[in-house]
Amino acid sequence: MKNILDDAFEKKYAVPQFNMNGLIWLESILKTAEKCKAPVIIGTTDKIVDQLGGFKLLAQIFEIMKKDLKIKVPAILHLDHGQTVERCFEAVDAGYDSVMYDGSKLSIEENVKNTKKVVEYAHKQGVTVEAEVGSVGGTEDGVYSDMIYADQSECMKLAIETGIDSLAPALGSVHGKYKGEPNLGFEEMARLRQSLHVPFVLHGASGISNADLQKAISYGHAKVNYNTELNIGWSDALRTVLTENQELYAPMEILKPGKQALNAVIEEVIIRTGAYEKA
Ligand code: 13P
Repeated sequence: MKNILDDAFEKKYAVPQFNMNGLIWLESILKTAEKCKAPVIIGTTDKIVDQLGGFKLLAQIFEIMKKDLKIKVPAILHLDHGQTVERCFEAVDAGYDSVMYDGSKLSIEENVKNTKKVVEYAHKQGVTVEAEVGSVGGTEDGVYSDMIYADQSECMKLAIETGIDSLAPALGSVHGKYKGEPNLGFEEMARLRQSLHVPFVLHGASGISNADLQKAISYGHAKVNYNTELNIGWSDALRTVLTENQELYAPMEILKPGKQALNAVIEEVIIRTGAYEKA
């Protein structure tokens, strides 16, 4: 993870993180990344991990699928929004490549203290750590957060005192569908970039215009996270196939258009983020 993020940071493109919500997502993400020769990150939120069978099962399925599909591009399994220090430890122990500790609801002192514990544990096993300051708004997998802008001195404190590998500074982005136009804090982003040399992570990238995305990447967002855009593509395809074929009940036929929709969204995002042929 560190190598692919550092390369993206240096060359001014971003590695997309696609969140998985089932095996179909994992298969589509891996196959499309391989087709596009792009490095890729597969995110599992803390909440979805339990729904899909737990850390150990997911880490093993990830390795088996990569091997069976002969995936040669760098593909990283990442815990998205780890809710506690212990959950991050569990992911590390299960074989995850990377974890995010989300202490955004805590005081900065508590956030720093806990993030430090995660960094110490994860780095010993070669696992990278992402942390958040401020709060990305909206709802993801049932977890709601108010949108709170990241404070510059808190970002610096967290990054410098913990040794994290990447920082998600909340600067106006939101999980889920945006109500109105996204309004990212580019002035704050520029100021923060001048004082910190760590790769940034953009959460809530679904619905952000290409122009804003390119601007965020130019300020050192080396990882951009997509979940909603994939799920809209998948659910639209599912709705259409079931509406148009009222007699259809064969799961493989029902699921086929959803897979195709996921592949198309993933390929388009890989092009948009500049990760195409960067592996
Ligand atoms: P979206 O659902 O808005 O794409 O955000 C994904 C994300 O940030 C994962 O943490």
